[in-house]
Amino acid sequence: MMGVTLKSVLVSALVGLTSIVKAADLPAIEVVGNKFFYSNNGSQFYIKGIAYQQNPENSTGTFVDPLANAETCKRDIAYLSAIDTNVIRVYALDVNEDHTECMQALADAGIYIIADLSQPDESINRKDPQWTLDLFQRYTDVVDKFHNYTNVLGFFAGNEVTNDDTNTAASAYVKAAIRDTKAYIKAKNYRSIPVGYSSNDDDIIRVALADYFACGNQDERADFFGINMYEWCGTQTYQSSGYQNATEDYKNLGIPIFFSEYGCNQVQPRRFEEVSTLFGSQMTDVWSGGIVYMYFEEENNYGLVSVDSNGKVSTLDDYNYYKSEIKKISPSSASINSQNATGASSPTSCPTATDVWAASTELPPTPDKDICDCMQSSLKCVVKDSVDDEDYADLYDYVCAKVDCSGISSNGTTGKYGAYSPCSPKEKLSFVFNLYYLDQGESSSACDFSGSASLKSASTASSCSAYLSSAGVSGLGSIQGSVRTDTSEATGSNGKSGSSSGSSSTSSGSSSSSSGSSDKKSAASSVTLTAFTKAGVIGLSMIVGFGMIMI
Ligand SMILES: *[C@@H]1O[C@H](CO)[C@@H](O)[C@H](O)[C@H]1NC(C)=O
Ligand SMILES: *[C@@H]1O[C@H](CO)[C@@H](O)[C@H](O)[C@H]1NC(C)=O
Ligand SMILES: *[C@@H]1O[C@H](CO)[C@@H](O)[C@H](O)[C@H]1NC(C)=O
Ligand SMILES: *[C@@H]1O[C@H](CO)[C@@H](O)[C@H](O)[C@H]1NC(C)=O
Ligand SMILES: *[C@@H]1O[C@H](CO)[C@@H](O)[C@H](O)[C@H]1NC(C)=O
Ligand SMILES: *[C@@H]1O[C@H](CO)[C@@H](O)[C@H](O)[C@H]1NC(C)=O
Repeated sequence: MMGVTLKSVLVSALVGLTSIVKAADLPAIEVVGNKFFYSNNGSQFYIKGIAYQQNPENSTGTFVDPLANAETCKRDIAYLSAIDTNVIRVYALDVNEDHTECMQALADAGIYIIADLSQPDESINRKDPQWTLDLFQRYTDVVDKFHNYTNVLGFFAGNEVTNDDTNTAASAYVKAAIRDTKAYIKAKNYRSIPVGYSSNDDDIIRVALADYFACGNQDERADFFGINMYEWCGTQTYQSSGYQNATEDYKNLGIPIFFSEYGCNQVQPRRFEEVSTLFGSQMTDVWSGGIVYMYFEEENNYGLVSVDSNGKVSTLDDYNYYKSEIKKISPSSASINSQNATGASSPTSCPTATDVWAASTELPPTPDKDICDCMQSSLKCVVKDSVDDEDYADLYDYVCAKVDCSGISSNGTTGKYGAYSPCSPKEKLSFVFNLYYLDQGESSSACDFSGSASLKSASTASSCSAYLSSAGVSGLGSIQGSVRTDTSEATGSNGKSGSSSGSSSTSSGSSSSSSGSSDKKSAASSVTLTAFTKAGVIGLSMIVGFGMIMI
């Protein structure tokens, strides 16, 4: 009798405890050394994550915000919790939606989110990398919208942007995005939310790439690093899977590293035997867990559950296999005191320019609206509002064959960035129109461009003089720019100068990183499929591999 009573008292006490955990009580996760810790008690935090975002197949937009619908969110939390999920990765968020109810429900369930800051139409494009005002605005909009939830574990400033040795320079732009997003969080006095990067797994560049993001000073390096890892297919061992090599490769990274996606599906059903290895003693000193790709079953066959047209969830075999594996783990817990302080100098040194790594450690300037505004005001010849932005590319080509467009161009290999390279496509086009106009001695016929340009009066506010003179008439000087917040301006600024070269203009605006990723020694298809965003966005491109089609 006594025993029964005591037991039921304990049970109800536990139930009570669980139910009083509220968002405000869910402790933030912090980075110390190369691990994550609960900020309330210093226990180590391992990511037991699931990628959570549905394809936009039947919706009108380019993506479906997974945190905007409280009903489906709550429906799915039950399934996520039953497999011990403590993190979901979300790839694209709509800053105009209300996420409060879903975020609260996740917090109540002890679930954190790691969110990509980009969205399909606003991301750094590996084929024409830029770090612009528009993109920075998108990134800070997401930060503004989510900073207050303590169950935001961190943000990704990019996903598989550089994905092979032909586009390593794009990483300079992503690293600038990390630097500026971190500066923004600091300037706004937000909680210190970590900002990291999610990489693909390309044998040739993966070490240099991780070192590139982990190196340098605290202000500009990534706070954590994710790798989308699809090497373990079917039954493997620590050695045969490639996990041992990866662990060797990253053991000195100095920042937390985890699988930002995993779960090869070349062999089905997926038995998830890699889980015990990932959370076992051979790996936990280096790795902080991983995020299974993915919750929803779609054409690419990576789902743990399927959802029918009535919104009813059914668990699939993979769900049950994963469940039994994740329930078995008991990773060791490192002590927060044994970690070297995060502020300590990074053990990682930047990759040197080699054949396989061409991104400069000199990063693109901080996009700064004030600088672009000053430039715009100073112009006499500008692009007309009526010009369709689809025509910009042709206009750039035309004018940049006549004047040096380096002031609006940039090159992540040489580390030379035009002073106005972060400005909007329209501002940049106006700038080069104006250059040509000046070059032609301000002859009125030189401000025409087949009717695309018009004259206006130029003005320079006193606050603009310093910017304009650092940049120089041709924009070849450099200005670092400042991170602006609503109320004030913050963080370090200003102008190293130097001349900027770099090649002819590009049209700009950033479209999504397109194209499937390259080679992949053991799972070409899966890596191609990893970020639904990419394929989803380019929309029309169908990526076919191993008989699977992803739209
Ligand atoms: C630390 O806090 C977290 C979150 O409340 C909890 O899950 C964990 O069990 C705690 N660790 C210890 C050792 O109490
Ligand atoms: C989307 O539309 C297709 C074709 O109309 C249908 O077969 C599919 O079930 C729909 N998917 C969802 C998630 O509603
Ligand atoms: C952030 O959270 C605090 C405490 O819960 C609340 O008082 C404040 O209004 C929130 N701010 C925003 C912008 O949501
Ligand atoms: C691990 O690295 C060694 C040495 O480079 C290589 O021979 C081996 O094939 C790699 N193992 C796997 C599974 O990739
Ligand atoms: C801390 O730093 C020291 C000296 O740089 C190094 O030897 C040690 O391995 C580091 N410890 C951890 C846990 O990273
Ligand atoms: C950047 O500069 C390098 C070296 O001059 C050049 O080879 C490369 O084509 C340039 N890249 C772009 C995008 O202009």
